[in-house]
Amino acid sequence: MPIFAGYMTDMRNIPQHIAIIMDGNGRWAKLRGKERGEGHFAGMEALQRTVYNAANLGVKWLTVYAFSTENWGRPQAEVDGLMELVCKGVEMHTPELKKQGVSVKIIGDKSRFSQKVNEALARIEGHTAGGERMTLVLALNYSSRSEIVAATKELARRVKEGEIKAEDIDEKMISASLYTADMPDPDLIIRTSGEYRLSNFLMWQASYAEFYFSDVLWPDFDNEELEKAIESFSARDRRYGLVK
Ligand code: IPE
Ligand code: IPE
Ligand code: MG
Repeated sequence: MPIFAGYMTDMRNIPQHIAIIMDGNGRWAKLRGKERGEGHFAGMEALQRTVYNAANLGVKWLTVYAFSTENWGRPQAEVDGLMELVCKGVEMHTPELKKQGVSVKIIGDKSRFSQKVNEALARIEGHTAGGERMTLVLALNYSSRSEIVAATKELARRVKEGEIKAEDIDEKMISASLYTADMPDPDLIIRTSGEYRLSNFLMWQASYAEFYFSDVLWPDFDNEELEKAIESFSARDRRYGLVK
């Protein structure tokens, strides 16, 4: 093996799964005297560059919080604009995602979306299926508590129908009943815009995640910010409750 074999290798510890709470679109727009909707559009561009930056770094899973169950309570015009943006985003980005080997998966309760939005979501999931470079997971109408409620109902139903025994329910079975069933837990959770909360995102899955908070508003998030987060993650000692 040549002595410089590792020369081009990234020596840092790259997280296998990064989850991002993309926050600050509204404030970004306000600072520029623009409508909140323009902040969301700029946020989608930030997402686009982050997807390819993460894939280039070797990240295998990127989960982004794009719309929470609570976000339905925003002014109707903003909600409509966000739904429109989902459809537009699918149209604009599906071909390149497919070309780049990025597959897209949706987590959240799809039942509340219009037929048009659901068709767009089915299109992006269908067309990008099989992409092996990275999986982009879009959390849409997602809430961790509703996810846990839905999983609990499903397990209760299985007990009632005699498929499983109540005493056999364990952590693995609960994990397997969540939207994230086939996914590894996030290693690193990033939240932008200087807010320090989870806002109902991946509560079960975040048990041993590392957190990174950035003051940057989401539309300004770039490769430099992603590198900073990874640098910070790379220097951490994940002990999982053990003594080293
Ligand atoms: C995050 O940005 C995007 C969504 C929640 C859809 P915000 O819209 O929450 O932006 P701020 O927090 O009001 O600045
Ligand atoms: C969390 O951001 C949801 C998304 C990023 C989609 P919010 O802006 O909705 O959360 P709060 O209201 O600050 O907790
Ligand atoms: Mg916000």
